[in-house]
Amino acid sequence: MNTEPHIITTQVGIVGAGPAGLMLSHLLARAGIANIVIETRDHSTIQTTQRAGILEAGSVRMLTDTGVDGRVLTHGHRHDGIDLRFNGVSHRLNFQDLVGESVWLYPQNEVFVDLAAARKRDGGDVRFSVTDTEVLDLESGVPKMRFTDAGGQRVEVHADIIAGTDGSRGICKRAIPATDRTDNFISYPFAWFGILTEGPPSAPELIYANSAHGFALISQRNEHVQRMYFQCDPEEDAGAWTEQQIWDELQKRVDGPDGFTLQRGPIVEKTVLPFRSYVCEPLRHGNLFLAGDSGHTVPPTGAKGLNLALADVKVLSEAVESFYGTGSRDLLDGYSAKALERVWKAQNFSYWMTSMLHSREDQSSFERKRILGELNSVATSRYGQQYLAEAYTGWPHG
Ligand code: PHB
Repeated sequence: MNTEPHIITTQVGIVGAGPAGLMLSHLLARAGIANIVIETRDHSTIQTTQRAGILEAGSVRMLTDTGVDGRVLTHGHRHDGIDLRFNGVSHRLNFQDLVGESVWLYPQNEVFVDLAAARKRDGGDVRFSVTDTEVLDLESGVPKMRFTDAGGQRVEVHADIIAGTDGSRGICKRAIPATDRTDNFISYPFAWFGILTEGPPSAPELIYANSAHGFALISQRNEHVQRMYFQCDPEEDAGAWTEQQIWDELQKRVDGPDGFTLQRGPIVEKTVLPFRSYVCEPLRHGNLFLAGDSGHTVPPTGAKGLNLALADVKVLSEAVESFYGTGSRDLLDGYSAKALERVWKAQNFSYWMTSMLHSREDQSSFERKRILGELNSVATSRYGQQYLAEAYTGWPHG
């Protein structure tokens, strides 16, 4: 093994090849800005990790308008609404009618596959399976990324800007001294038990169900594979649940006078997903800029995580382009505040959806009934429905 670091100079160094990092790399490359992406995981691990599945219309446009691939349109499914279900009764929110938009069911791992393929097609420099990653000299004019590549070579990348798109457990956020950032967060006393099951869909659109037994989400993947979740204890051991117990628990939470019945099938994956709301402020330290989960996380109830990451990256790529085009740092200086405006709207929406749909063990009868009053206020008011529809389908970009 060669221990002398091999030095490479580029314009933007990107830490993390999830959708945020790859989309940023793609947008910068289209603007003629050189960049290198590094990632500790390998391609197949990211490709097979189940994540959420809803894309806002603006996210879909980012993929199709920038020439990533039209697979989202051919393999994804357009959803014009969702069902809010409570007291065993479904209330459909028609997004097209309410706000003239739709969302697309297209899982995050497919977005990753498309972006990775686009980077490969366009000759992008994306290095998977790197180890011992560090970011350094962030406050200097030459911030750096250091890592060992898959072949064992130590590499040091000298850049003008480093983008931290390395997720909620990444190194970039932690590279900001604790005295220079505020960690805003709350945790929740519950988590989601997620399953992937083989069989036909139980419903044509997503069902967000509140019940006295807790929350459940009925989602889909395609004609043969479905995705569902139910609220559980954060310490729940997924392995301890039998298929029968999982199906009975899910069914209990969607039971109602309409006799709605879930299509049961073999469960091919089960995982407990922890829940947290977090925002790092600012999303910047010197020449390090955080985007996506590395700077903020939302609970999955509003389906906002991936969409927020793409929105951040749009703002950041415009700021970086402006810097190279005009020499002015104004947009870079404004990045954090501009991205955070959308982040906090999405935090509020995700928190609101989460508290309105879940139940707590220690909930009083007053609180349980107040929540039903809140759900009823949303479901029976065009204005209430419209707020939910606007936030769910995504506020306009820019
Ligand atoms: C999913 O299909 O995985 C999914 C959909 C909507 C959510 C969360 C997860 O709010």
